[in-house]
Amino acid sequence: MTKPKILAFAGSTRSDSFNKKLIKIAVDGAIDVGVEVTFTDLRDFPMPLYDGDLEQREGLPANTRKLKDLMLTHQGFLISSPEYNSSISGVLKNTIDWTTRQTEGESPLACYKGKISGLMSASPGGLGGLRGLVR
Ligand SMILES: Cc1cc2nc3c(=O)[nH]c(=O)nc-3n(C[C@H](O)[C@H](O)[C@H](O)COP(=O)(O)O)c2cc1C
Repeated sequence: MTKPKILAFAGSTRSDSFNKKLIKIAVDGAIDVGVEVTFTDLRDFPMPLYDGDLEQREGLPANTRKLKDLMLTHQGFLISSPEYNSSISGVLKNTIDWTTRQTEGESPLACYKGKISGLMSASPGGLGGLRGLVR
């Protein structure tokens, strides 16, 4: 059986992000026990805000396609994301919105179906980012 590959990223793009730091600690720990993990920074995949007209006109943004291709080569996700105004961060939500869009020849939710995600959060706030992880 081939080992599952895990894609790890933070729901914050800022350089000094606590969530990037947390995810890197988790990635190091997973690698130490033999898991194959790829860390990626969503800052390297800047995307416009989801806009249905843009999608209809131009299809997926190039960076969405690139990230989807990377996601398709991994069998699970490890995500650490902050809580913004008691909810999911805009960066993570926009990434999910674009990467869940189906393109020709793709099955629905191709990047996500059958995959398992581990969710974490770091925040200096009282609830530690908990509310950003609630569906
Ligand atoms: C727009 C905005 C909204 C925020 N809302 C919350 C919040 O609801 N709860 C909370 O604990 N922290 C909140 N924070 C603080 C973030 O958790 C904190 O800035 C955190 O460090 C961001 O994650 P990062 O370090 O990975 O970038 C908010 C920050 C921003 C910029």
